[in-house]
Amino acid sequence: MRRSLALLFLVATTGCDKNIAGGSTDGAAVFAAACAACHGPGGAPSAAMAAALGVRDLTSSAFKVRATPALVMAQVRNGSSNHKMPSFAEALTEPQIAAVANYVLTLPAAPPR
Ligand code: HEC
Repeated sequence: MRRSLALLFLVATTGCDKNIAGGSTDGAAVFAAACAACHGPGGAPSAAMAAALGVRDLTSSAFKVRATPALVMAQVRNGSSNHKMPSFAEALTEPQIAAVANYVLTLPAAPPR
């Protein structure tokens, strides 16, 4: 149920018209519009999202050490293999995908736990 609500929310807020964030190539704006609902505004998902969908923490050191623009761009284009993260290939332009990938890499790391 939680998962379908999240997906409904996503469809309602993003659509497939390459008009997310008004087509902006500001990575922060694209992140806020397309990613923050699941990943959290700063890249760390809420406990509820982490539990419901297994959303990854983009501020964790485990992610930071292997994160590259190419990795994030591939994830955004293809979504996750378990389909819990959708593909954004139809929803975002290539410049938007590059911008949001670069933005993800600038998210401050979470304090060590
Ligand atoms: C519907 C919720 C949802 C949205 C929206 C979403 N993601 Fe995700 N994301 C996930 C989930 C769930 C995973 C973990 C998938 C898995 O288990 O393989 C994930 C994984 C990732 C990963 C892989 C992290 C790793 O450990 O390799 C990256 C990078 C990522 N997301 C970036 C983004 C970006 C950038 C956006 C916006 C363009 C975005 N996500 C939008 C749910 C979402």
